[in-house]
Amino acid sequence: MISIVGTGRVGSSIAFLCVSNALDDVLLVNRSKEKAIGEALDIASAIPSHSKFSIRGTDDYSEISGSKIVVITASVGIYMKDRTENMALQVNMIKEIAAKIKQYCPSAIILLVSNPLDVLTYFFQKESSLPRFKVIGIASNLDTSRFRYYISETLSVPQSSISNALVLGEHGDSMVPIFSGVSVGGNPLFSMIDSRDSITDDVRNYWKKLRNFKSRSQFGIAKNTFDVIDAILNKNEILLPASVVLEGEYGESDVAMGVPVKIDHNGISEIQHVKLDDTESSSLKKSSEKIRNYIQSVQT
Ligand code: 2OP
Repeated sequence: MISIVGTGRVGSSIAFLCVSNALDDVLLVNRSKEKAIGEALDIASAIPSHSKFSIRGTDDYSEISGSKIVVITASVGIYMKDRTENMALQVNMIKEIAAKIKQYCPSAIILLVSNPLDVLTYFFQKESSLPRFKVIGIASNLDTSRFRYYISETLSVPQSSISNALVLGEHGDSMVPIFSGVSVGGNPLFSMIDSRDSITDDVRNYWKKLRNFKSRSQFGIAKNTFDVIDAILNKNEILLPASVVLEGEYGESDVAMGVPVKIDHNGISEIQHVKLDDTESSSLKKSSEKIRNYIQSVQT
């Protein structure tokens, strides 16, 4: 069973993809039971006739017991300009959810989606004491999709010709697109662009630009989260960047941030070390410091 805590646009879109692809049973958990049941009833009409699985909604956390995966998309309110706007309240919320998950399904793999993503990944892991490789913040693969999109738009090439695009660090204004390993049609990206600045700004501000046209992002994060759920349940190993509590990797500890990981049916199996140039290394250091400062600002 996949439990999804929080049934707003993102939670319900992830549920829709899991159900319509007949991945597993889905349980929607929301503080409003009516909202959880309503979304479940709507999505239930998308169950394919060949599916063995169903979906239901609840406000009762005890029902998550036995889940293989718990996805957390819950949020205390809407943030307008910055993902850290409600940080203290979000941290309190994640601690409460962590206690419930520890109580009812301590063996689950946790996929965090709520913001501020890296700060919440850190506090969830510390509060729950679940193994750090089972607590995975999903966002850097979304940022990587955006990086690929802008490379493709800038050079007028299809995304299929782009290899090794990667975004690391904070899911926030300090995220670090890694240009040095990217190739396009077999040629280094650096041989095709004058500077990394404009694509970096575009990737970092993607969400703010989107907000000018649509209140919140929804489908990109839903698909990127679904891909991870699919890989875990179908035992397909995948490589992608995700947020995890670091213990020395990339020279960092006491912080969670996006790094390249291998994920299999047990969660993260390995943090991979990729080569960075000096600009990327120093930007990543700044990014980790920013997240660490956020963590310290809400630590009691
Ligand atoms: C996004 O980047 C808001 O974190 C969300 O789309």
